[in-house]
Amino acid sequence: MIELKPPQWKVFMSESRFRVLVAGRRFGKTFLSLIELCRAAWSPGRLAWYVAPTYKQAKRIAWKPLKQMTRPYWASPPNETDLRVELITGGTICLRGADNYDALRGDGLDFLILDEYASIAPEAWPEVLRPALADREGRALFIGTPRGHDHFFDLYSKAQGQKHWATFQFTTEQGGNVSRAELESATHELDERTYRQEFQASFENVNTGLVYYAFDLAANVGECEYDPRHPIFWTLDFNINPMVSLIGQTVDDWVYVLDELVLHDSNTEWASNEFRERTLPFFRNTMMPMRVSVYGDATGNSKRSQASRTDWQIVRDLFGRYKTDYKATFHVNSSNPAVKDRVNCVNARLRINPANGDYSFIPAANSSFWTWSACAGRPTPMGTSWPKSINPIPIARMRRTHWAT
Ligand SMILES: Nc1ncnc2c1ncn2[C@@H]1O[C@H](COP(=O)(O)OP(=O)(O)OP(=O)(O)O)[C@@H](O)[C@H]1O
Ligand SMILES: [Mg+2]
Repeated sequence: MIELKPPQWKVFMSESRFRVLVAGRRFGKTFLSLIELCRAAWSPGRLAWYVAPTYKQAKRIAWKPLKQMTRPYWASPPNETDLRVELITGGTICLRGADNYDALRGDGLDFLILDEYASIAPEAWPEVLRPALADREGRALFIGTPRGHDHFFDLYSKAQGQKHWATFQFTTEQGGNVSRAELESATHELDERTYRQEFQASFENVNTGLVYYAFDLAANVGECEYDPRHPIFWTLDFNINPMVSLIGQTVDDWVYVLDELVLHDSNTEWASNEFRERTLPFFRNTMMPMRVSVYGDATGNSKRSQASRTDWQIVRDLFGRYKTDYKATFHVNSSNPAVKDRVNCVNARLRINPANGDYSFIPAANSSFWTWSACAGRPTPMGTSWPKSINPIPIARMRRTHWAT
C-alpha cells in the first residue's frame, strides 16, 4: 500500500502551479516524484516528465521504481531506451536527463519534475523547459537538496510569496525515513556545514571557493608547545615541489600542529634530515625516546625513477639511524582516502560550535600558519619566508590538499 508521509502529502496537496521542494537527503523526494508523475499522467493524452541532471542519473534513480509502481497500469511494455511508460489511462511518463537539455525541445508538457535541481544546468529551465509548459499550461515541481547559494537557492528565494508559486523546506528527520540514531551518527562523521546542508536542507554559504572553509584565524591559530607526555605525529606528502609535511600532536580530541616543513625542489632524504633538525629541540625536556606516529601518502610505497629506495624506506631508514631517540610507528594505507573524505575530515576537525562547547581546535605555530592562512585566503604573516602572494586553494584544485590524519 503506497502512502505519502505527512510532509510529502503537504507538497502533493498544494494547488500551486509551480512548487519548490527543498529537502534533506533521503527525505523521500524521489518517491514523492513518482507519485506525482502517476497522478499527472492519469488522463488521456497527458504527458509528464521527470528530469534528472543526466540521462544516466534519471535511469539509475527513477526507472526501476517507476516501472514497479506503474506495472499494473502499463498499456504496453515500457520503452527501455526512451525511458517511457505508456499507461492504460492514455497518459505517458518519460524520464529525461538535462545533460543535453537542448535536445529536450519539441514536446508540450502537462507536468514536469526537476529532481536534484541544484545539479541541473541553470539554463535548462528558462530556455527549454519553461517554454515546454506554455501551450498546455503545465505544472512544475522543483526538487532538491541545497548546494549553497546557487540557482536553486535563487529560485527558492524568488518563489517565496509569488503568485502561482509555493515553497517547502523539510529536514531529513521530518521525512521519517532515517532513524534518529543514524542522524546522530552523521553529526559525528560530517562537519557541521555539510550536515546542515545535507540533512537539514539549509542553504549554506559554500561558494567561498575555499576547500577549508571551516578555518578561522582567530579560533584555529594560537600558541602551542610540544608536550613530552604525548607522542608526536608526522604526516608526509611526497610531492617534490613543494614537499610538505606536518609535525604535531593529538591530545584528547585536539590536534596541535607544531611545525610544518615546506621544502621546495626537495626529496625525502632532505625532508627526513629536516624532521630530525626540527624535532631536536623537543628533546630538551626529556631523556625518553620520542614516540612518533608516521602518517602519509600511500604513493610513497613505489620507487621513483632512478631511486634505489622508496620514499617510505628512506623515512624508515631515518628512524633506523636514530633508534635510541625515536620510537616510530607507521600508519600508511595501501591507497589514499578520497580527496573529498580528506577535506571533510579536516573541516570537521576545524569546526567550532561554541554554543555547545564543541571545540576541535588546531592551534598552529610557525610556518603552519602559512598553510592554513593560505587555505583560508588570509594574508601572509609578516616575517615568514613563504611566498608573499597567497593563493587560496579553490575547490577545483582540491587535490593540492594533502593533510593526512
Ligand atoms: N511515503 C513513503 N512510504 C514508504 N517509503 C518511502 C516513502 N517515502 C520515501 N520512502 C523510502 O525512503 C527512501 C528514501 O526515499 P527517496 O529515494 O525518495 O529519497 P530522496 O529524498 O530522493 O533521497 P536522495 O536525497 O538520496 O535523493 C527510499 O527507500 C524510499 O522508498
Ligand atoms: Mg532522490
